[in-house]
Amino acid sequence: MLVLGLQGSPRIKGNTSYLLSSFLESAANLGARTKMVEVDKQNIVACKEYVVCEKKGFCPIDDDMKQEVYSLIREAEVVVLATPIFFYNMTAQLKALVDRCQVFWALKYRFKLKDPCREQRKGFLLSVGATRGKNLFEGLDLTARYFFDAIDAEYCGSLTYKGIEHAGDMEKHSSMKDEVKNAAGEILKPLVARKKVLFVCEDNSCISQMAEAFAQVMAGGKLDVSSGGVKPAEKMDSHMIKAMKEKKIDIKFRSPKSTQWAVLEHQPDIVVYLEKNGIAPPVSGAGLKQWDIEKPKEYSMETVRQLRDEIEKKVAVFVESI
Ligand SMILES: Cc1cc2nc3c(=O)[nH]c(=O)nc-3n(C[C@H](O)[C@H](O)[C@H](O)COP(=O)(O)O)c2cc1C
Repeated sequence: MLVLGLQGSPRIKGNTSYLLSSFLESAANLGARTKMVEVDKQNIVACKEYVVCEKKGFCPIDDDMKQEVYSLIREAEVVVLATPIFFYNMTAQLKALVDRCQVFWALKYRFKLKDPCREQRKGFLLSVGATRGKNLFEGLDLTARYFFDAIDAEYCGSLTYKGIEHAGDMEKHSSMKDEVKNAAGEILKPLVARKKVLFVCEDNSCISQMAEAFAQVMAGGKLDVSSGGVKPAEKMDSHMIKAMKEKKIDIKFRSPKSTQWAVLEHQPDIVVYLEKNGIAPPVSGAGLKQWDIEKPKEYSMETVRQLRDEIEKKVAVFVESI
């Protein structure tokens, strides 16, 4: 399970960075995989209002949002937005990232597509400001709520600190570490307690991806699901993406992963090998299931639809049995 921190301050070792690092450290101690994106160091172009996302469901701007950040947001089950207050809101760098998430808004509200992780994704806000005014975090809070709604994350609350101005101020705060540890524990404990399931096929471009997405949609709250391929393909099967879209499930931002990566990062309790006559990778300590799905000779819309429906049924029975 990935906990993604979006660090919005341009100060690398500033207050926000310290606060977010403390949160991610607590998350890692609980067993989560963590990643911090230094937003100021990314090449993120502000939204140009081309409106392509609302008409076609993608953003045509080719920058680090497209290369990495969109996929990370979709992969993360906890997204932590962290920023200093600049003029009663987040920094411009972070706001550019937030605005570019209009594509997620469009996929959700215009195209009515489901992100497979939407039932379990959580959002949390961290912020610092120099002054002590009553309304210091109000503008930010509103923006954060709309951001979390667009990326399909349940807003779980915030930790905000007033009177924090100079680099190093946050480190001197007496109760912050405990507050962050408690907040991380509350959000993460139910997620890390889930049983971990890994779906495996040869190339992780089609059937194991569908199984992963269906299991997340059906049981993401009780299962921590991942998928991998013995020899991962370079890209996803395009028929599969369309076939899942017909089911209103959007897996556009995913890509094939290796079983090695998946086992290492995921340490599954159960491994489901989907293909008939396939060779399952040995995973010590994990229960193994074999589904014997026949691979079609040719991948077409029709054969992939049949596979999709077969996998949907098998996943429903599987999640019911756990
Ligand atoms: C451009 C700019 C605007 C700011 N606006 C505010 C503000 O509206 N209210 C406030 O309390 N602090 C404001 N601050 C102060 C920062 O929020 C504060 O110094 C914070 O601790 C910086 O965090 P960092 O070390 O993570 O960058 C502003 C700072 C800058 C550089």
